[in-house]
Amino acid sequence: TPVSLIGAPTDVGAGARGARLGPEALRIAGLTEALRGLGLDVADRGNLDGPPNPWSAPVGGYRHLDEVVAWNRNVMDAVAAELREERMPILLGGDHCLGLGSITAVARHCRERRKKLRVLWLDAHADFNTHEITPTGNLHGMPVACLIGMGPPCLTRLGGEAPAMQVGEMRQIGTRSVDPGERQLIKQLGLPVYDMRRIGDIGIKRVMEEALDGVDADTHLHVSFDVDFLDPSIAPGVGTVVAGGPNYREAQLAMEMIAESGCMGSLDIVELNPILDRDNHTALVAIDLVESLFGKSTLVRA
Ligand code: ARG
Ligand code: MN
Ligand code: MN
Ligand code: MN
Repeated sequence: TPVSLIGAPTDVGAGARGARLGPEALRIAGLTEALRGLGLDVADRGNLDGPPNPWSAPVGGYRHLDEVVAWNRNVMDAVAAELREERMPILLGGDHCLGLGSITAVARHCRERRKKLRVLWLDAHADFNTHEITPTGNLHGMPVACLIGMGPPCLTRLGGEAPAMQVGEMRQIGTRSVDPGERQLIKQLGLPVYDMRRIGDIGIKRVMEEALDGVDADTHLHVSFDVDFLDPSIAPGVGTVVAGGPNYREAQLAMEMIAESGCMGSLDIVELNPILDRDNHTALVAIDLVESLFGKSTLVRA
């Protein structure tokens, strides 16, 4: 299927500024050319518009709520438009609050086409906070809660009825930084999490087999790739660095196994922060891994 790049140059949901430059960093590092090199039909839709980052303090437990709503509406509409045309949307963030708009559009598309939804949340963080338990008020720490219906109605009802999805439709992978309130909520609601401890115990191969279990031709697989998923030794250019992540080969195998499922229907690449990077190196690593997501193989006899 043809793919469409959608830039969302904002960091209104983040605690550090710089993710607004993510789309350009990915373009300059050669994302379009890399995908075309794999034989894909790529259209770059350019960047979406939205309000500036006011860089103000949280109000009622939320930082920049109005701005986050505005950006997510624009993302949701842009992603929905690509899905309607049978194209695969690739959202270039921007911070991870935008996963809400992207996945809300994907979930609605799945309901209309009677497809099963599976979301792979590749992230050091659970992003499962609410305004009551968030330690920061940053909305990039809340999109998963909003997607399952916990949050302000302006976000949980972005696509109409809440919730956009069920906890059982998500698998979190690479988790290693969870706030105390999030930890409780994960337990209480049974959010499926493959944390770094689990990856250490059974290995990334088995983790991915389990996370992809049940994914079939009737499944739309959405990959939400927060670049801070990766170990900071290979990907330092992110605003919320957490040590102890997957190494290059573990991440690459995860991506290869997603590609082999043949079911990926949409993708977010978020939280890349070129201001905190060196020589755009993190963008290059992210692109290498996205190539694996689209079928670049390390098999000698493919
Ligand atoms: N849990 C922290 C918070 O709520 C960090 C969230 C980081 N999220 C991210 N998408 N990088 O502020
Ligand atoms: Mn995240
Ligand atoms: Mn993260
Ligand atoms: Mn589809």
